[in-house]
Amino acid sequence: MHNPGNPTVKIPALRTLALAVSLMGLAGVCSAADADAGAAKAASCLSCHFAGDFVGESEADILAFIKATSAPDSEHPPYDEGLSEADLADIAAFFARGE
Ligand code: HEC
Repeated sequence: MHNPGNPTVKIPALRTLALAVSLMGLAGVCSAADADAGAAKAASCLSCHFAGDFVGESEADILAFIKATSAPDSEHPPYDEGLSEADLADIAAFFARGE
């Protein structure tokens, strides 16, 4: 009552921050794809899609889908053919991040 600063409130907040930072580090280690680079490369996709279109889908699923669209029987409309496999991986990372 006499102490305005309540330490039990501050400690969990700090723990959450530490967890968020360590998760960000893990995400960077687990994926070779670069979502920031993907944001620029996704320009051709963004003429039809919004960045948040595939939120909730994994990077691997998006990458598998977009690779499958190069098959002749794919119903997906054509997109920039000049994208390499590494470009598509970056784009998948960008869409999986959702922004
Ligand atoms: C000319 C318009 C157009 C462009 C360009 C385009 N798409 Fe699409 N995309 C569509 C349409 C329409 C669908 C829905 C039909 C389908 O599922 O095949 C779709 C579906 C998808 C889906 C499946 C969504 C689901 O149901 O889970 C993914 C993933 C996707 N696009 C990724 C991409 C990526 C990545 C690019 C850029 C490399 C791209 N698209 C470029 C029009 C486009």
